[in-house]
Amino acid sequence: MFGPPEEREVTYWIGREHWGRGAATAALRELLSIVPEGRLRARAAADNGGSIRVLEKCGFVATGTDRGFANARGEELDELVLTLIH
Ligand SMILES: CC(C)(COP(=O)(O)OP(=O)(O)OC[C@H]1O[C@@H](n2cnc3c(N)ncnc32)[C@H](O)[C@@H]1OP(=O)(O)O)[C@@H](O)C(=O)NCCC(=O)NCCS
Repeated sequence: MFGPPEEREVTYWIGREHWGRGAATAALRELLSIVPEGRLRARAAADNGGSIRVLEKCGFVATGTDRGFANARGEELDELVLTLIH
């Protein structure tokens, strides 16, 4: 999690060998149980169905789109912006 209180964002990365076992959902839920109340945003590549699903399972809803540079892919891409009022 990063950013000033009014612009907080969360991001995560799970080692590939652990994908598909609920680790991202469990970790995000655990984080949400300890962060202060307020608005929290997240971004996912628009084609990253797994990450969008993790966020939606934790209560985030899609609130916009953006363009952003993805370090992992080395290119700018379309992002879905999701928000949780926590
Ligand atoms: C995206 C990522 C975090 C998912 O981690 P994970 O531990 O495998 O996620 P979970 O097992 O908790 O949940 C994945 C959910 O997405 C679903 N899913 C997986 N691939 C999907 C796809 N292509 N489209 C739609 N849903 C998908 C799974 O079925 C599961 O949902 P379910 O529990 O309802 O069945 C992981 O793949 C990752 O670290 N990727 C690289 C970094 C990244 O993309 N980070 C996100 C940037 S915010």
